[in-house]
Amino acid sequence: MDKFNSQIEVKPDGLYTPIVREWSLEKYRLVGSYCDIFTSGMKNKWNQLVYIDLFSGAGYAKIKENNKTYLNSALLAMSTPIPFTKYILCEQDDERYEALEKRVNRDFSHLNVELIKGDSNKNVSKVLKAIPPFGRGNTLLPFCFVDPYSLNLNFETIKSLGQTLMDFLILQALHMDGNRNFDTYLNDENTRIAEYLGISNWRELFEKDGIANRKDFVKFLATQYQEQMSKMGYQKAKRFHQIRSNEKNLPLYYLSFYSKHPTGEAYFKKIQQRVKPQLSMDL
Ligand SMILES: C[S@@+](CC[C@H](N)C(=O)[O-])C[C@H]1O[C@@H](n2cnc3c(N)ncnc32)[C@H](O)[C@@H]1O
Repeated sequence: MDKFNSQIEVKPDGLYTPIVREWSLEKYRLVGSYCDIFTSGMKNKWNQLVYIDLFSGAGYAKIKENNKTYLNSALLAMSTPIPFTKYILCEQDDERYEALEKRVNRDFSHLNVELIKGDSNKNVSKVLKAIPPFGRGNTLLPFCFVDPYSLNLNFETIKSLGQTLMDFLILQALHMDGNRNFDTYLNDENTRIAEYLGISNWRELFEKDGIANRKDFVKFLATQYQEQMSKMGYQKAKRFHQIRSNEKNLPLYYLSFYSKHPTGEAYFKKIQQRVKPQLSMDL
């Protein structure tokens, strides 16, 4: 079978289209390829396959460097040769939500889609409600893509969704946000990291002999996140995909894959090799 092209250029359609940087294309290749391998590999094993996008965006994105417009994560997931049974797409921003809704209604009306507007950290119960009923003889496997700009992602959100069987691909803005805002986060008043890790006393774990070193921060966040996921039954993620900026080759973020089942990890490994050699994080 031909490999699904997960970098799909489209003509601008006049609807709101955010401008993104060229490294987003690597993210699109990764998430699109994963959706393809997931739906084709799992379709005979599960009755229902659900795609959840907690940070869906507008559906289209324009690359600053080449001025070309591409399908983003949500619409790529809808374009795989074998579709998911249902799509649950969440977006907070009014303009992006409206553009996404119009694009979905115009081009994907044949698919089962539910759009949820608002803050995904507050809408978990709506997302869970949107997952179709399942049980013996009517099995269901969801894949959840989590693509925030920053560390504004509460661990509670992932924990609530991860109670069920669910694979996650999570963008971890560890350099872009974590490292950059280290001093802000270290401030006792700031709750961002406590919410991100779901660990209220994280500063005690991080500081050694009362000293907090910036150079250890990214690794600390990644390790603690893994620990938190593993407490929920997820395999410790060996699968990190690092995305670096094209200009300065600086690390920006990681796409971390979490599954409770080795098959998910094997799929992710395969598509990582397809997309680009892995730049691993030494944990
Ligand atoms: C990095 S963009 C990701 C877009 C998309 N996944 C893609 O492939 O291009 C993050 C998106 O999440 C939205 N967003 C930010 N915070 C959010 C929140 N708390 N809940 C839901 N959406 C949010 C932003 O408006 C933006 O469209």
